[in-house]
Amino acid sequence: MRLPTSAAAIAAALILPCAAHAADAPVQVTLDASKPGAVIDRHVFGQFAEHLGSGIYGGIWVGKESTIPNTRGIRNDVVAALKALKVPNVRWPGGCFADQYNWRRGVGPERKAAAGEPNTFGTDEFMDFAQQIGTEAYVSVNLGSSTAQDASEWLEYMTSSTDSALGAERAKNGHPEPYKVAILGLGNESWDCGGAMSADFYVNEMKRFSHFVHNYNPAQPMKRVAVGPSGPDPTYTEAVMKAWKGRSWAWDIEGLSLHSYSTGGWPPHMSDIGFDEKDYAVLLKDSLGMDDTLKTQSAIMDKYDPEKKVALVVDEWGSWLAPTPGSSPGALAQQNTQRDAVLAALNLNIFARHADRVRMANIAQMVNVLQAMILTDKDKMVLTPTYHVFHMYVPFQDATFVPLTFDAGAYTTNGVTLPRVDAVAARDKAGKVWIAVTNIDPKSPATLSVSLAGVKAAKASGQTLSAPKVDSVNTFDAPNTVAPKALSAKVAGGKLTVTVAPASVTVLGLD
Ligand code: AHR
Repeated sequence: MRLPTSAAAIAAALILPCAAHAADAPVQVTLDASKPGAVIDRHVFGQFAEHLGSGIYGGIWVGKESTIPNTRGIRNDVVAALKALKVPNVRWPGGCFADQYNWRRGVGPERKAAAGEPNTFGTDEFMDFAQQIGTEAYVSVNLGSSTAQDASEWLEYMTSSTDSALGAERAKNGHPEPYKVAILGLGNESWDCGGAMSADFYVNEMKRFSHFVHNYNPAQPMKRVAVGPSGPDPTYTEAVMKAWKGRSWAWDIEGLSLHSYSTGGWPPHMSDIGFDEKDYAVLLKDSLGMDDTLKTQSAIMDKYDPEKKVALVVDEWGSWLAPTPGSSPGALAQQNTQRDAVLAALNLNIFARHADRVRMANIAQMVNVLQAMILTDKDKMVLTPTYHVFHMYVPFQDATFVPLTFDAGAYTTNGVTLPRVDAVAARDKAGKVWIAVTNIDPKSPATLSVSLAGVKAAKASGQTLSAPKVDSVNTFDAPNTVAPKALSAKVAGGKLTVTVAPASVTVLGLD
């Protein structure tokens, strides 16, 4: 029915406040601390540092002679920033780089360069870096172009006492004490850059590596991670888990790797900055697909491993966008915006909800590559919005998942619909309950009203990360455009009420 103009205006006036009210109505959340879930393993907050672009050279390693302040060649500013993140583990040296890495060229006084790789940052430098930032080593061995014997000798170099020839060589190179290798990657992307192997071929190779590549350091139990799927593809998951179920005494694994990037369509083509609201939503929608991917892969793993002994290890995840204009495409350099901060929080929330199976994850990557924590240029360093999210989520490391129920509502733009908000909660080892809230909607603030069951609290305080625009970035000249700000919220009558900015991430602790 066509209304006369004045009647249409009156009708619109009647409808609009209702619509505005619906969007502004507090999201009703129930937090039930009496029904704890799984522990959110701190290893879910792991990182990945590959010999790629300036991820290592320039980003971490500047050399002992550099004028950039360093400790034994490793940048002091980067180390200080990473220490604050309590990084639980770092995966190294790759990635596809690991699939053809020759560790021998990267130890001892005379380093032998490979094409495009000086090898001045090798095993001893990586272990020094790990020790400086206080993290555990996740070493990926070369199952692509090398042998189980070679990988076995690398582990002997790293983990044996000086009684062995390779332990003695390590001592001669300056480190008599055996290193600790907490996690061992048995190959990388063997379905692609790691040798384009069929799943069955990989399983046979992997069994030999699992059997022959030993950890000799009794002070550090070592977990082995087999190559698993790319995104939701079931092929490797089926083959590896089926073999695992029928395993003999001779081999075992404790983890299965999953690689799943947020791209908005392959190959990576979306702009890292200067994008519009549609591209904001498209990338986040793609990223939220992580939940279905984990459900698909967990269901396959459950068939063979209902007790969830094998962890799903998401050891490459994050945004993969078009390279920063002017950068070398192979360097995988991209800027990091508030959209990346929201994306990081959404994925960390998904991992928390899958904490029973997803017990490790590594964002790609740590410095200067893909969705990095830190960007450097010569002596300059800047912390990205993603860094701040990882920092704000530190209380969730090893905390116990606390269920939340809520109707997330919907945010729609340009035909793309996303949940309007997301939230997770957890209780840390000291008993304090934390809640993380993400407002996906880039245009409207959101108010959450959280009923607190099983937890007594008088106030809530923490930090919130918002930005002038969804593509706001931190630069060397303006490093604090996107920086967390203190936020406190009201708790009254067993309810926490908090209003968060558009496109923001907030973490609050209850006291
Ligand atoms: O993280 C960049 C690359 O992405 C890694 O080298 C590889 O494993 C993946 O394809």
